[in-house]
Amino acid sequence: MEEVKKTLYSAVQPTNTLTIGNYAGAIRNFVRLQDEYRCFYAIANMHAITVRQNPAELRQKTLGLLATYIACGVDPDKCTLYVQSHVPAHAELAWVLNTFTYVGEMERMTQFKDKSARHADNINMGLMDYPVLMAADILLYNADVVPVGIDQRQHLEITRDIAIRFNNIYSPTFVVPEGLYTKVGAKINDLQDPSKKMSKSAENPNGTIFMDDTKDTIIRKFKRAVTDSDSEVRYDEENKPGVSNLLSIYSSFTGKTIPEAEAEFAGKGYGDFKLAVGEAVADVLEPVQKETARLLSDRKYLDDIFRKGAEDAAHVANKTLDKVYRKIGFYRCGN
Ligand code: TYM
Repeated sequence: MEEVKKTLYSAVQPTNTLTIGNYAGAIRNFVRLQDEYRCFYAIANMHAITVRQNPAELRQKTLGLLATYIACGVDPDKCTLYVQSHVPAHAELAWVLNTFTYVGEMERMTQFKDKSARHADNINMGLMDYPVLMAADILLYNADVVPVGIDQRQHLEITRDIAIRFNNIYSPTFVVPEGLYTKVGAKINDLQDPSKKMSKSAENPNGTIFMDDTKDTIIRKFKRAVTDSDSEVRYDEENKPGVSNLLSIYSSFTGKTIPEAEAEFAGKGYGDFKLAVGEAVADVLEPVQKETARLLSDRKYLDDIFRKGAEDAAHVANKTLDKVYRKIGFYRCGN
């Protein structure tokens, strides 16, 4: 008998250029988990428009993100890769779930508060509703697990709350998903300000390593990374946040454990250490960049993956949506 795999769901927004935080916190794990689970990986363009986007760029980044997924090792023959807006059920379920979500809950979301401060001229309803759309994404596919970085934990919690609330009012409908956070890499911080997460939209680009940075740029940014005044390469988030962040990055990109990395750099100075981290990152990114560029030259190949992905995703999503519509009492014409 064929083994029934559990379902995994995750998504990335096609905004700006991806960072090594996106890679370490999410995409690297997408690859690691693709044999164990039935995987759905979306490109969250509907989430992206909660912040104003340049249309041509958004289109290009959508294709670019698919190429990056594949170049990083996500296998389109094993996983369903698709664009969120190609499956209308996302917007449809989000509307229903809105009526099971309280305004107060959304106002308390950390990311909403952060983004409202950063985009004070455009605090739109979508920005506030972002977690409900995310809940719809996840719940449509009956996902058991959702691999994401720590910054998404609060959104995962509210997804669970909404699912439980709905299940209690009607009858078990949604699978209540678990967040999956890796020990290392779930929160990569800014190289210039290690108290903040590394972000695509950081003010100081020297704090962020982008997936398309050249080797020279990568090495330069790591050389300038903020550390501390002693010289010991030791993991201690509280007292040595800069060095601890570099150790997490090194571990994510080499597969070595933190103690192995500490041992490797025992007695060596920060200069050697930073160079080694930069080289480890560049060694991973260089082939990914080449493969991304190669894939982007074959638009038909990528479009075919998107078409097939949307079809497969819609098949699963529409079943869930039908069930929800039936339970809440939406009228259906007889045959
Ligand atoms: P996005 O595009 O902001 O981030 C994509 C993934 O990268 C992770 N991440 C990080 N991990 C570690 N360190 C960092 N510095 C770092 N920065 C980003 C994020 O945690 C995320 O896993 N809302 C989601 C997209 C989404 C989604 C979903 C995810 C839409 N629908 C459904 C899961 C399930 C987001 O913020 O993506």
